[in-house]
Amino acid sequence: LSKKVEMTNWEKGHYINYAKMNENLNIVRQRLNRPLTYAEKILYSHLDDPHGQEIERGKSYLKLRPDRVACQDATAQMAILQFMSAGMPSVATPTTVHCDHLIEAQIGGEKDLQRAKDINKEVYDFLSSSCAKYNIGFWRPGSGIIHQIVLENYAFPGGLMIGTDSHTPNAGGLGMAAIGVGGADAVDVMANLPWELKAPKVIGIKLTGKMSGWTSPKDIILKVAGILTVKGGTGAIVEYHGPGVDSLSCTGMGTICNMGAEIGATTSLFPFGDRMYDYLAATKRKDIGDFARSYAADLREDEGAEYDELVEINLDELEPHINGPFTPDLATPISKFKEAVKANKWPEEVKVGLIGSCTNSSYEDMSRAASIAQDALDHGIKAKAQFVVTPGSEQIRATIERDGQMKTLEDFGGVVLANACGPCIGQWDRRDVKKGEANTIISSYNRNFTGRNDANPATHSFVTSPDMVLAMTIAGTLDFNPLTDKVKDSQGNEFMLSEPSGEALPPRGYDPGQDTFQAPPEDRSSIQVAVSPDSDRLQILQPFDAWNGKDATDLPILIKAQGKTTTDHISMAGPWLKYRGHLDNISNNMLIGAINSANGEANKVKNSTTNEWDAVPATARDYKSKGIKWVVIGDWNYGEGSSREHAALEPRHLGGLAIITRSFARIHETNLKKQGMLPLTFTNPEDYDKIQPDDKVDLLITELAVGKPMTLRVHPAAGGQAFDVSLSQTFNEGQIEWFKNGSALNTMAKAHAK
Ligand code: F3S
Repeated sequence: LSKKVEMTNWEKGHYINYAKMNENLNIVRQRLNRPLTYAEKILYSHLDDPHGQEIERGKSYLKLRPDRVACQDATAQMAILQFMSAGMPSVATPTTVHCDHLIEAQIGGEKDLQRAKDINKEVYDFLSSSCAKYNIGFWRPGSGIIHQIVLENYAFPGGLMIGTDSHTPNAGGLGMAAIGVGGADAVDVMANLPWELKAPKVIGIKLTGKMSGWTSPKDIILKVAGILTVKGGTGAIVEYHGPGVDSLSCTGMGTICNMGAEIGATTSLFPFGDRMYDYLAATKRKDIGDFARSYAADLREDEGAEYDELVEINLDELEPHINGPFTPDLATPISKFKEAVKANKWPEEVKVGLIGSCTNSSYEDMSRAASIAQDALDHGIKAKAQFVVTPGSEQIRATIERDGQMKTLEDFGGVVLANACGPCIGQWDRRDVKKGEANTIISSYNRNFTGRNDANPATHSFVTSPDMVLAMTIAGTLDFNPLTDKVKDSQGNEFMLSEPSGEALPPRGYDPGQDTFQAPPEDRSSIQVAVSPDSDRLQILQPFDAWNGKDATDLPILIKAQGKTTTDHISMAGPWLKYRGHLDNISNNMLIGAINSANGEANKVKNSTTNEWDAVPATARDYKSKGIKWVVIGDWNYGEGSSREHAALEPRHLGGLAIITRSFARIHETNLKKQGMLPLTFTNPEDYDKIQPDDKVDLLITELAVGKPMTLRVHPAAGGQAFDVSLSQTFNEGQIEWFKNGSALNTMAKAHAK
């Protein structure tokens, strides 16, 4: 079975290594001596050190070697800029970049795409040239949404992938463990560092019965979200199994895994089966399907595998669900929905119905939607509400154009947008309602937080299956249940909508559509990465300075932050996201949300050299210009929230040396280490209170050693005796090297130069 099968048709020489995975798994099996879940099999077969790795679900930190990396265009910018500073000639792990997030929906597909290409030209030019340079596959704007492209071209059963987008788990529909991460993690894997993940717990979802009628795969995850809530999957992989799995198409399983992100799950997974095989064959990867069949026992759970939590869903009884508004876990079955609308006074009129997105764009989804639209057209009626279609990929768009579903959806009143995220990520120039006006929209998307789609906090956004979107769009009101209620045809006669139907895979095969892929060239040495020196959106990163080997003395405290200091307080999102590829510009948001304990205000600190009050970033810049390093004092769980790497890059860029807190959110702590900062905690948390914002401190860095405390010498501004405070740290050997070299990437660059 030592066959060589390429991971994807788009690259050469990257083989799927089931034999090696099997070998690793056997090593771990001997150690654990118990049946394994499928999630565990994938993770443990990708361990960097299967012999030595400590393994306890929910406790240990696994060091893993993912097979692939995928980045979307918004997060790819800083990831690639950082990777460049490691000085490596190409990425160490196969990587792709997908242009999907920056295309705003305004009037429809082609025009919107052209506009986006103009507005984002410098970003696209940078991504296209850097991908070519560093051997990264580049999917141009118009190619489609990252998760759809990955499912169509890159996902494979048993694989482990990370992606810089929260809905990366979509690839679980093809039996791949695909995990959403921050840019810093992607950079590690691109630069050949092992990737660290806390060994997830495993939640089992057993499916029994068979799906039929108006119920679709989306309803499984809508129901699961209702049961587990938006926090229920935190730190866990959700693993589906049981006889009900067979009634689901591969793309339907993708939908379920995709929206698993909404319950906070690390990822979601389905076992390899015939429906996946069929999808692989339909997407020109039959050889992968055959290869997977020969390792089928490794590509599902063992008999008797134990789950940390088990949920059972009977598909015979599962009703269509509609979730929302404002949160994806407020799940209401269709039989109770009309009541809920009245009881909660949700606006009944449906203004806009939207189908597509990375969640529900499959051939099956579009075919079923078109069958409902055709039923309406046959009765002489069209969509009452506005109706919008976002194809997930160029391949889907071209295929439904060829096979007629698109024409049906357009005849029904639909506007087809570009193959991109569009309204799902707020890239929607919506004009039919005013800001603040309460209204209802219903989509087949996955996320419906306040303001996400159209920046209007009064928009009630519901998520459901494409089928239900169609039904509600025909009725024009939420006061409708297609299973029990009639609609009026053009003559005023009542009729029931027929149950949707549609093929899972195109009978005539997929039409690839326009060629939207840019493969990296063979000879990449002469390629120049396109970044204009006067760009305000992109800036080449300079490697950070190495440690000078000395203790640091007389450091000012830039800010003593009090209370919650999340990554949003440290590096705000919103309008700042425009600068995410320009470290110096985005650093102007550094810590502007943190509350200064000296005055209880945000973004107002005293400059210790001038005694003037000023903004945090301006003060840091002043210190930096004077060659003065500084520290931040922080409270509990500093850096909670997201893995946003800018929250660690910015303080490093503006001259910070150490962040000293009562405690850290772990990911932020690691991110700080990666950038060559010192994340330190008070050994006695009450020492936080002994330090005043105007004090100066010395940091005895030469004491830095694994497991050893470090001394902070405090010189009170009020005068009096200096005193020492003990600081703890969690650096391991490798991480100490990161600090000494100035960053993790400098360390990689050094290793590479040898
Ligand atoms: Fe894009 Fe929305 Fe998916 S933003 S990646 S379509 S969740």
